[in-house]
Amino acid sequence: MKENNRLRIIRGVRQMQALADRLRTQGRIGFVPTMGALHEGHLELVRVARKNADFTVVSIFVNPIQFGPKEDYRQYPRDFTRDRRLLAGLGVDVIFYPDVKAMYPEGFATYVEVERLTRYLCGRSRPGHFRGVTTVVAKLFNIVKPHVAVFGQKDAQQALVIRRMVRDLNFDLKIIVVPTVREPDGLALSSRNAYLTPEQRRQATVLYQALRLGERLIKSGETDPVRVKQVLRRLIRTQPEARIDYVEIVDTAWLEPVPRIQGEVLIALAVYFGRARLIDNLIVRAPQSGGKNS
Ligand code: PAJ
Repeated sequence: MKENNRLRIIRGVRQMQALADRLRTQGRIGFVPTMGALHEGHLELVRVARKNADFTVVSIFVNPIQFGPKEDYRQYPRDFTRDRRLLAGLGVDVIFYPDVKAMYPEGFATYVEVERLTRYLCGRSRPGHFRGVTTVVAKLFNIVKPHVAVFGQKDAQQALVIRRMVRDLNFDLKIIVVPTVREPDGLALSSRNAYLTPEQRRQATVLYQALRLGERLIKSGETDPVRVKQVLRRLIRTQPEARIDYVEIVDTAWLEPVPRIQGEVLIALAVYFGRARLIDNLIVRAPQSGGKNS
């Protein structure tokens, strides 16, 4: 028998582990790690978790160690009451909502680091970020003990890094990656969109337009990543508030910049609008080059 469906809020690590042990005797645990300020992207992950498990656990924890010293840890939006209401509406069983002391008690000194995959893109512009992500996610996996964990393609590099960590460290669970949920005008949903002024919000639609333009160029046979990136940068710069962090074209296995576009590539970008650093990406398959005679 499945335990009753009341939404439980768990704040202690030991308590969560004990509950996880109990739930595991009754069914499969699906897990969605988040930093809260939930939006439809997160909720889609929760629906997928629900479909793939008997019990759904969502964690809400703004993880200080994945933010750089000059980043937005303090300002990061927090609204637990709203998050709880949204998750209750979806039939979530447990919210794991620890405080920083519970996750990083005095004397904490162990970190998990995935190499190579973290060299470019956000790994390059946010040193230490993925070390913070993999460390907290490894801890969360050991606390929530899920059979399945769900992540978003919106954070493409994060999803690959987590998959790598799960393989390399033999975590006994399955990772599911869910396609990016977008606004009607294409802007990827993000908790950080809340930082945008109405004018910045309008200009930010250029990100998805740039990705689609990149896709069209590649589909029509452009194989030079330098040229594609140049065109995308030029388009993004038409928006006065946009400040480009990176525009990259990388392979989908190791996320390394490609010298020539062939097979499957990831177009990935990070652009500031005011204080909001927004990221987005698109996987594109290049057409088979010209056939036998070319
Ligand atoms: P957060 O930014 O809250 O995102 C939680 C999950 O939601 C991630 O897997 C992310 O990829 C996914 N997500 C965010 N926006 C999405 C969208 N528009 N469509 C689909 N999925 C989306 O990512 C983190 O938190 C943290 O790094 C975390 C993994 C919780 C570790 O602290």
